[in-house]
Amino acid sequence: MARTFSITTAIDYTNGAPHIGHAYEKVLTDAIARHRRLRGQPVFFLTGVDQHGQKVQQSAQKLGLEPKAFVDGITAQFLALWSKLGISHDAWAATTEPVHIRCVQGMLQRLWDSGHFYKDKRGGHYSVRQEQFLTEKERGPDGEFGPEWGEVVYIEEENYYFKLAEHRDWLLGLIDSRSKSAHPLVIPEFRAAELRNAVEKLSGDLCISRPKSRLTWGIEMPFDPGFVTYVWFDALSNYISFAGYDPSPGADLSTFQSLWPAVHVIGKDILVPPHGIYWLAMLRALGFADNEMPTLLVHGWWNIAGAKMSKSLGNIVDPAALAEKYGPAALRWYLLADIATGRDADFSIERLEQRYNAELANNIGNLLNRTLNMTRRYRGGTLKKCGSPLAGFVSEKAKAWDAAMESYQPHAAIEAAMEIAVRCNAHVEETAPWKLAKDEAQAAQLDGVLYTLSESLRILSILLEPFIPEQAAAMRAQLNWTAEPSTAATEWGLLPDGHQLSEPVPLFPRIELQP
Ligand code: ME8
Ligand code: MG
Repeated sequence: MARTFSITTAIDYTNGAPHIGHAYEKVLTDAIARHRRLRGQPVFFLTGVDQHGQKVQQSAQKLGLEPKAFVDGITAQFLALWSKLGISHDAWAATTEPVHIRCVQGMLQRLWDSGHFYKDKRGGHYSVRQEQFLTEKERGPDGEFGPEWGEVVYIEEENYYFKLAEHRDWLLGLIDSRSKSAHPLVIPEFRAAELRNAVEKLSGDLCISRPKSRLTWGIEMPFDPGFVTYVWFDALSNYISFAGYDPSPGADLSTFQSLWPAVHVIGKDILVPPHGIYWLAMLRALGFADNEMPTLLVHGWWNIAGAKMSKSLGNIVDPAALAEKYGPAALRWYLLADIATGRDADFSIERLEQRYNAELANNIGNLLNRTLNMTRRYRGGTLKKCGSPLAGFVSEKAKAWDAAMESYQPHAAIEAAMEIAVRCNAHVEETAPWKLAKDEAQAAQLDGVLYTLSESLRILSILLEPFIPEQAAAMRAQLNWTAEPSTAATEWGLLPDGHQLSEPVPLFPRIELQP
C-alpha cells in the first residue's frame, strides 16, 4: 500500500470574510491533492479555520456577539465557499473543536512537565485603546507611538514563555541537511535561504500566553487557569491535533504516523517566524525526530494593481462573488494558471476573462464540440482505432504535466495540457476533415484524425482533473469514457476500436467581454 500523501493549508482567520488569497491557497492545495489521487496514492488533505484570538474577540464585541456566534457565522462563509469551489479536503480543522482543545492542552502540559516553559514578568508599552502591547515596529518616524494607539502606558505582565532559543543550532543544522535533499524542508529553495538568515539572528524566547484579564477567547493553560495560550500553540497545532496526534506519554500513534509528516502549504508571510521557526521547534520539543519534520511549501501572494490587498486600501477581491459571476471553473483555472508557485502575481479580472475564453471556451471547449460533431456527422459517432502522428507528442506532454504537478507547479502542468489542445486544433486545420469526408479514398485518413482527436481529448480530460474536476468529468461523459480517471490511463490508445462517443453538450459558455 502506497504511503499516504498528507497535505495541509494554513488555517484561515475567522475575523473577516474569505478573500482571494484564501481561495488561491485552497485551490492550489486541492489541485496537488487531486493529482496524487489520480496516481492512486491515498491522500489526507486537511484545511480549516483559526477561530480564537484577540482580533476575533474584539470583532465579536463590536457587533455585540459572543465570539462563538461570530466565528460560527464566518466559518459558514468559508465552508460554503470551499464547497462551491469543489475543494476536496478530507478533514476540517476548526480550532474551537473539543478534539483540538484537548490535544493542545495535552501538548502544553507535556512541555510544561518536561521543562520547556517558564513563567516570567516582562514590561512593555501597552495601548489601552487597542488592548495590545506595542513593539518597536509600531513607533513612528519620530520614535513615538502615533495617535492611533490612544493612551500608551508602560506595564509589566507575567506570562509563560517557550524556550525557543535553545533550538537555534539544531534548526540551522536541519535547514542545511535538508536543503539539497530529496525531501526538502522548504520549497522553493530561495525561501530556505530566507529562513536560514532569520534563524541565525534568533535570540529570544517565545511568549505563549495571555492573562485572562486581556484575552478570554482562547484555550486555557492546563496548569494555570489564569491564562490562555496565545496564537502559536493554538493555531499551528491543528496540523497534528486533527491528524490523530495524542500527546499523552505512551499513546498509540499508529494512525497519526500514517498521516505524518505533512506538506504544509502556506503563504510567504507565515514562513518566518511561525512555521519555519516556532512550529519546528515546538515539534522537536514534543520529541519529533528530524525525519518527522514537515515540508513547508511556500506560495507567493496575489497583489492588486501592484499593491498589497488590504482592508484599509479597500481592494479586497471577493472569491465568492467571482465564483458566482464566472463559475467556479473560471476562477479555479485563473488562480492555478496565472501564477507560478512561490512567486507573486497581479490579480486581473481581464486576465481571468481572457484566459477562460481563449483556453477553456476556444481551445478545449470548441475542440471537444467539433470532434464530437464531426465524428457524429461522418461516422455516426463511432471511432475506428488507428495509429496516430500525435501519440508521441501527447504522451510526452502527459509526462511533463505529471512532473510539473509532482514539483507543485500547476501553472506548468496547465501549460503542458494546453499544448495538447493547441496541437490538436492545428491538426484539425492541417488535415481539414471536412475535405477528407468528401473523398471516399481518404476514409482511412479521416478515421485517423477522428481517433487522434478523441483520444487526445480523453487524455486531456484526465490532465484537467486536478484543475477543473467537474468539467473534466463532463468531458469524459461526452467521450463516453467511463473508467475512473488515473495517471495510468494517460497512456495513448485506450479508446478501443468501435468506441461510440456520446452527445456533445457545450461545456464552457463564453464570457461576453465588456466593450
Ligand atoms: O495567517 N495572496 O491566516 P490568514 C495569497 N491563521 N495568499 C494569501 C494572501 C494573498 N493576497 N493573503 C493571505 C493566518 N494569504 C493564520 C495562519 S496557520 C497555522 C495560521 C494566505 O487568514 C496567507 O499567506 O491571515 C496564509 O497562508 C493564508 O492565506 C491564511 O491567512
Ligand atoms: Mg495572516
